Amino acid sequence: MTDNVQIEKSGGILTLTLARPDKKNALTNEMYGKLADTIEGAENDASVRVIVIKGQGDSFTAGNDLSEFAAVAAGKAEGERHVTRFIHSLGRSTKPLVAAVQGRAVGVGTTMLLHCDLVVLAENALLSTPFVSLALVPEAASSLLMPLRIGHARAFELFALGEPIAAKVALEWGLANRVVPLERLDAETGALAQRLAKQPLGSLVATKRLMRNGEVLVKQMEAEGEVFAVRLQSAEARESFRAFAERRPPDFAKFG
Ligand code: COA
Repeated sequence: MTDNVQIEKSGGILTLTLARPDKKNALTNEMYGKLADTIEGAENDASVRVIVIKGQGDSFTAGNDLSEFAAVAAGKAEGERHVTRFIHSLGRSTKPLVAAVQGRAVGVGTTMLLHCDLVVLAENALLSTPFVSLALVPEAASSLLMPLRIGHARAFELFALGEPIAAKVALEWGLANRVVPLERLDAETGALAQRLAKQPLGSLVATKRLMRNGEVLVKQMEAEGEVFAVRLQSAEARESFRAFAERRPPDFAKFG
């Protein structure tokens, strides 16, 4: 099993650390598998009262591993794809989810925050969802949750132009609870998680169930997934993955 996701449990707090810092914690199929197994397992584990997600190194995560997207697009990816299980586990999780985010949070790195109940950003956090720039479409129910959270105008711009927003803006738009100095990120997140862990779990779970309908979110993910799978095979998407690998801007002009 991959070491690129570290798991630690202490005092009712389950911490998942994305640990592939040399690749900006880009998420591989194996990493999604371990994350999904752990979040699914936590549902029926009474000793887990809070789940914290964080990243090692200078970034939270650069999102899906683009070489794996390219392999899927080329029909070269083998075995079960775990990303769907991962996003479904986020949608269905009834335990409080807390995220600690520094540096880049790209793609699913940002859309997973829409499933986190408390989001703490370091001052240097930059959130982006460049799905359209990659010739893809939004996922993880973000096509529903993002406009609900920040309004259509901001959500469309975020998706369509793919440019990052700074921590302060994300806070102002309601995408986060706190912005803290980078050196305080772990401590502030840990303190919030501990406060949550002391609250009555039954009431937290019931509150979260009243606030969000996991099955509606999973339905949206399924609808997005169908379009995403088609887009992934498109010539435009193949050009975007090639461009990333070749460290050049993509050229979409040749496609109609
Ligand atoms: N998939 C695979 N590898 C990735 C990656 C990703 N999503 N993001 C970064 N990496 C790798 C780079 O290829 C590079 O590997 P190398 O050192 O072997 O060449 C390493 O991580 C460091 O990335 P680099 O681009 O040099 O860092 P940077 O600080 O200049 O830029 C990012 C950081 C996150 C802005 C940039 O890497 C990026 O745009 N990544 C792609 C993000 C993306 O589009 N994700 C998919 C969203 S759906």
